[in-house]
Amino acid sequence: MQRIVVHPNGPLDGRVRISGAKNSVLKLMAATVLAEGTFVLRNVPALDDVRAMADLLRSMGLTVDHSGETLTVVRPAEIDPVAPYELVERMRASIVVLGPLLARLGQARVALPGGDDFGPRPIDMHLQSLERLGATFTTAHGYIEGRADHLVGTRLFLDFPSVGATENALMAAVLAKGETVIENAAREPEIADLAAFLNRMGASILGAGSPTITIEGVDELSPVEHEVIPDRIEAATFLAALGVAGGEIVLEGARPDHMDMLMQKLGDMGVRTSSHPDGVWGMARGRLGSTDVSTLPYPGVATDYKPLLVSMLSVADGVGIVAENIFSGRFRYVDELVRMGADIRTEDHYAIVRGVEKLSGAPVRAHDIRAGAALVVAGLGAEGETVVADAHHIDRGYDRFVEKLQALGAEVERQSGEG
Ligand code: UD1
Repeated sequence: MQRIVVHPNGPLDGRVRISGAKNSVLKLMAATVLAEGTFVLRNVPALDDVRAMADLLRSMGLTVDHSGETLTVVRPAEIDPVAPYELVERMRASIVVLGPLLARLGQARVALPGGDDFGPRPIDMHLQSLERLGATFTTAHGYIEGRADHLVGTRLFLDFPSVGATENALMAAVLAKGETVIENAAREPEIADLAAFLNRMGASILGAGSPTITIEGVDELSPVEHEVIPDRIEAATFLAALGVAGGEIVLEGARPDHMDMLMQKLGDMGVRTSSHPDGVWGMARGRLGSTDVSTLPYPGVATDYKPLLVSMLSVADGVGIVAENIFSGRFRYVDELVRMGADIRTEDHYAIVRGVEKLSGAPVRAHDIRAGAALVVAGLGAEGETVVADAHHIDRGYDRFVEKLQALGAEVERQSGEG
């Protein structure tokens, strides 16, 4: 059992370096299936999810070495196109190997991902897109079996700009015959990073980062070196900590252009941010103000920021209405904040957060990555000790979270032990 223990310790001060983006590196790793040879990824964070994807690639026959922030993947000529249940269950994002496996090997056997703490997460759009490109699927015994003798470019119109479905379609279309156009594509910076990686490998992709992506299929791709973009959600986490604790910090390597909407929201709440020669600068003084939040696909407020914003609103002056528009049931951590004295009412996909003067430190439990981080953030502004149990969830998405907070002057420590 991993716990993170937090004591309030006044304003934050200092610099912290933002790691590579989890949600980018996992997809880049999946894309290594597409070409034989040696790939080198730089700025790769040490995360449990990266270890899970490395284990998945190894189980398929690839060699993966992660040392420091460099991840080397050697993709041999023959690989086994199977993603077993134990690994997909460990990390749902494993489903993104489906597109590259079908494109490169013409077959794939991938365990069906289950639900998770924020409601069921269907993969219908992933499968429909791949079917329209020419793949066929059967499901039996908890596995999806996919076949594709050859993929042929087509026009795909996504019902919703799903990040994972866009990525699977993109990684399949790069080797399809002819042109594919993905309409209503997800626009997240991680999609643009994946497209840059694939283009460097020899793919021909235009428009990634916009709602229309055009891909001209090529016959072959080659391995490359690539530096992963910084993690905007990790950056948001430290800005939320700043909002709650006050102070002045610099987030080295953070990309302000990936966080426009967040920086605007933070400004509405009284956290000043701006771009800085080394990344992003932030300052917060006094009590936060409230604001309303509505999660939306990029460039809207990311659903992954939401728990962090709710922690901030819990101690802000006024009432904030938070609408979750991406995932149903992503409010479980609210019960934990309420245990810390927050005044939050949830109904359907809304939360009404009435800011209180002070939270009160308490034992709480992390249910997922961002909710866990949000509880640590809340603890920075609470009276007394907050102990966040099940902190292993946080390790899925944060590299040296405790150490980085300590570097900013926070009184935070990790405890490992039984029970
Ligand atoms: C990714 C991110 C996650 C982030 C989310 C939204 C990774 C590893 N994870 O998840 O951190 O919160 O984007 O920004 O990158 N949907 C369907 N059918 C599908 C696919 C999705 O109905 O086939 C629905 C989902 O249930 C959800 C919505 O579409 O309600 C958005 O999901 P999606 O954008 O696909 O998120 P992920 O790629 O799973």
